Amino acid sequence: VRRTRRGLLFLVAALGLLLWGCDTAGAPNALDPSGPAARDLAFLWWVMLVLGLAVTVLVLVLLGISLLRRGREEDRPPPLGTTGFIVAGGVVLPVVVGVVLMVFTVGSSGVNRPAGDEELTIEVVGHKWWWEVRYRGLDIVTANEIHVPVGEPVRLELRSEDVIHSFWVPELQGKMDMTPGREDAMVIEADRPGTYRGQCAEYCGLQHARMAMLVIAQERDEFDRWVAGQQEPAPEPELATLRLGREVFMSSSCVYCHAIQGTPARGVLGPDLTHLASRQTLGAGQFPNDRGHLAGWIVDPQSMKPGNLMPATFLEGEQLQALLDYLESLE
Ligand code: CUA
Repeated sequence: VRRTRRGLLFLVAALGLLLWGCDTAGAPNALDPSGPAARDLAFLWWVMLVLGLAVTVLVLVLLGISLLRRGREEDRPPPLGTTGFIVAGGVVLPVVVGVVLMVFTVGSSGVNRPAGDEELTIEVVGHKWWWEVRYRGLDIVTANEIHVPVGEPVRLELRSEDVIHSFWVPELQGKMDMTPGREDAMVIEADRPGTYRGQCAEYCGLQHARMAMLVIAQERDEFDRWVAGQQEPAPEPELATLRLGREVFMSSSCVYCHAIQGTPARGVLGPDLTHLASRQTLGAGQFPNDRGHLAGWIVDPQSMKPGNLMPATFLEGEQLQALLDYLESLE
C-alpha cells in the first residue's frame, strides 16, 4: 500500500510540474478565444473533454467494480446479460459518442470553409522562416504582421514558397497547413481590438519554433489609416545621412533580396522593407524592432537566427549608422 501511495504522490507531483510549466502568462490561448471561429473551436474542445472524461470515468468505475468482485463466489451476470452488456458498452455507446462528436465538429463554423463574400482578402505566404503578407487589391506587401479591421470577417489565402508550414493564431482560428503548390483559405475575425500572437504549427526546419507573427486588430478608421500609410512609397530622403543610408542599401547585398517601394530595390527573397519601421518585431516575432537589434540583424543575422537566408553584411561604422538611420525612417 505504501509503495502504491508513493507512486501516486509521484504521479501527482509530476503532473503538477508539467502543468506548472504550461503557465505562460500572455501566451496565446486557444481556450481564451477572441473571434467566432476560435470560440466555436474552444466550445468543441470542452465538449470533447467532457465526453472523454465521462467515458474514462465510466470505464474506471466498471474496472473498479470488477476488481473488487474478483474471486468472490456469488458472481452475478452484468446488467443486460453478458452479450447485451458487450453490445451496449462496446458498440452502441461508442457509436453514440462518435456521432455526437461528429455532429458538433461538422457543425462548428471554425472547421468550415470561408463563404467567399469577405470584403478583405489577404494572401499569407510561408517562407523559411517568416510570413509574407499581401493585401489583395490594396497594393500592400508587408511581413510578419497582419493588420485587420475589428468585427469583420477577413479571408486569408495561405500558401508556401518552400516547405510545409502551418498558420495558427490560437485566439482567432484553428490551424491550417500551408502547402507548396496548393492554396487554402480560411476566415479570421477578431471581436475586439488587440494584438494576437500566431505561430507556425508545422515543423519546417531549424527555426520552426521561432516563426511567429502578430495579428493586429484595429477599429475600422484606425485600420483605414494604417492602409493609407502602407500604400505610400518610401519618401525621398531629405537629410544627407538618410541619402547616404539609401545609397549604402542600394550598393550592398540588401538590394538583391529586399524591396523598398519608390526606389530601385525590387528584391523578392526577403521581407518588403518599404515600411519596416512601422513593424513591431524583427526576425518574425523574435526581436523588438529597435536600432540595436536591427544593427545586429544586419551585421550578423546568423548568430541571431541561425540558418536563415540572410547573409552578413560588413559595413564601416559610418555606413552602418547611415543605413540604420535610413531604415528607421521607413515608417
Ligand atoms: Cu514554418 Cu514551422
